[in-house]
Amino acid sequence: MGNSFDVAIIGGGINGSAIAYQLSKMGRKVIIIEKDQLACQASSAAAGMLAAQAEIEQDGPLFQLALKSQAMFSSLSSELFEYTGIDIEHVHKGMLKIAETEEMALKVKQQVTFQRKWDPTISWLDAKEIREMETSLSPSVFGGMYLPNDGHVQPEKLTQAFAKAAVNFGAEIRENTEVLSFIYEKGQITGIKTTNGVIHCEQVVVATGAWAAKLMRESGLDLRVYPVKGECFSIRTEKPLINTTIFSDKRCYLVPKRNGEIYIGATMIENTFDKKVTPGGIATIIERATQLVPQIKEAAWERVWSGIRPQTGDGLPYIGEHPRLKGLFVAAGHFRNGILLSPITGKLVADLLAGRQLDEGLLSAFHLERHKVTVS
Ligand code: FAD
Ligand code: GLY
Repeated sequence: MGNSFDVAIIGGGINGSAIAYQLSKMGRKVIIIEKDQLACQASSAAAGMLAAQAEIEQDGPLFQLALKSQAMFSSLSSELFEYTGIDIEHVHKGMLKIAETEEMALKVKQQVTFQRKWDPTISWLDAKEIREMETSLSPSVFGGMYLPNDGHVQPEKLTQAFAKAAVNFGAEIRENTEVLSFIYEKGQITGIKTTNGVIHCEQVVVATGAWAAKLMRESGLDLRVYPVKGECFSIRTEKPLINTTIFSDKRCYLVPKRNGEIYIGATMIENTFDKKVTPGGIATIIERATQLVPQIKEAAWERVWSGIRPQTGDGLPYIGEHPRLKGLFVAAGHFRNGILLSPITGKLVADLLAGRQLDEGLLSAFHLERHKVTVS
């Protein structure tokens, strides 16, 4: 077990694994260092929706990044299967963004107009049309936006597939090892201190999700990353209850997974790293979900879980190099869309570390010092 690498990636979630995959494929000598186990945090708690259009409601750098990433999934799925034999369970059966009231219908119709600029297959379905498509939807539903090209994946499998592909290209994964601080000389990273000794490297990527602010404080940089807990549950039915993902205004979604489970989420509880699942949290989502699909009350209960989303002060992820410490990079703060954004994050961060020319301006909105207030 050597202790010298080109790149040390801190955090074995989806972002750390996606970056490790791209860097190892380039021939770099990479190590992922994970405090606990690979994919043990947000990246296995996610529903796996690739919901660029449903989650992000206005044009801007995040929306454009999300569209690019969403378009990468079909080829990524075959590529990772070829390299690892892991099926990331990419389901491509569309999404319905539901309007539950007349007021929501107006808003969703405006989104249809906006989204059709990028995807003309997106349409508005009225109450009759939407219930013809998904017969178990409540008669109280007003209508909704139909996104035929939307899909989802199994997020833990995607993380494992990225990591396994990275290992196949020569990467090492060290679990149960916490990174404590950075080592640098004359403004250049030379290594990291961990609970299992020192690792020497030329470049470091901090991909520690909701825990990024704590570690980055060690480098003198104050990142505005904070935790938002999400609780979920899942059910099974004898016959498929829904075919498309049902999504309602970020308050509730139902995702029919390939294995027959329907994932139903999720609460949004700010400023806690405590992952306990509460009866109150689950009761809230059950109430919302049964308003959309009443028959879930008769389904077989499967399981509950929770995860910690990495939110930031302005809702944008941090992707970029430390302004004063050469060789120290961050890819964290992907909030509700880390699974969706993982293919593009892996690619862009790997290109950034390799000094490759990036698309003009693609990452500029995500730089690490954007919240700094300049006092004149
Ligand atoms: P994480 O997966 O949290 O990984 C960070 C890792 O860093 C952890 O394993 C942690 O142990 C490790 N770590 C922390 N500190 C250290 C240290 N000092 N040393 C070593 N290791 C360290 N996104 C979507 O795109 N679609 C969805 O449908 C979706 N649904 C979601 C539903 C829920 C309920 C939740 C909670 C999230 C959802 N997300 C979704 C968001 C997505 O899960 C996250 O954005 C994404 O997983 C973040 O990945 P990450 O790799 O940055 O962080
Ligand atoms: N993107 C779904 C969630 O974060 O709950």
